[in-house]
Amino acid sequence: MAKNKLSKFNEMKGFDNLYQPEYSEVLNKDFHLKGKWKKSIFKNPNPIVLELGCGKGEYTTGLAEKYPEKNFIGIDIKGARLFRGAKTAIQKHLKNAMFIRTRVDFIQSFFAKNEISEIWFTFPDPQPKKIKKRLSSSLFLNRYSDFLEPNAIIHLKTDNDLFYEYTKALAIVNNFKINYDSADVYNSTLLPEEVADIQTFYEKQFLANNKNINYLEFHLHNILPYIEPEEFNTKFTKTKTF
Ligand SMILES: C[S@@+](CC[C@H](N)C(=O)[O-])C[C@H]1O[C@@H](n2cnc3c(N)ncnc32)[C@H](O)[C@@H]1O
Repeated sequence: MAKNKLSKFNEMKGFDNLYQPEYSEVLNKDFHLKGKWKKSIFKNPNPIVLELGCGKGEYTTGLAEKYPEKNFIGIDIKGARLFRGAKTAIQKHLKNAMFIRTRVDFIQSFFAKNEISEIWFTFPDPQPKKIKKRLSSSLFLNRYSDFLEPNAIIHLKTDNDLFYEYTKALAIVNNFKINYDSADVYNSTLLPEEVADIQTFYEKQFLANNKNINYLEFHLHNILPYIEPEEFNTKFTKTKTF
């Protein structure tokens, strides 16, 4: 491992805002903080917002700064990226921002019924050929419903036009209430401020290449199971735009 990465990984072990459980602590097992995040960790009753595939955690830290009345947890599997987010939160004294290094696939081990209010997906890997790996597919949304509040809010910010269209089709086929829908964030008015004000590491690269950025925000409901927009999955597998 590169020296720089190794020194980050050593430093991260001392961060009190970052959890890095072993697989044995979460595989078919509840993580010890499940159901206890508000009381034991944030020490307040405020709503918890997740950023899944948070990378360097720009939304987790940016939103935590902007909304002190909410709690935020960024989740990613890549340690070197989480280092940046967790360190920023420490440097800015953000007590309402935490991070977990894990695969989202284990997420039901971390949170209990009604523990989470919102989820942000910031530039998720679109996984054109593998629905089972798309973090915002109906498969994953059904899993998240185990711990989301009724009417939870889902935010998607993505450069990938087909993925945005796919998620919109998913929202429509499931009758989710759409709050905001823009295929060009930086030429839209009336979006929440944070949609344009916070930019992620990946986003900056797409913007440098003049790529339009999409945003979609919708409410879930509690009529399960959620279903896939089948027509879009066929489009995904046939397209070569990724
Ligand atoms: C394209 S990057 C975007 C990162 C960041 N949100 C940004 O916009 O800069 C996608 C991120 O999702 C993470 N990721 C993808 N699948 C994951 C999974 N199953 N569990 C945890 N993290 C995952 C990757 O490690 C990566 O950091």
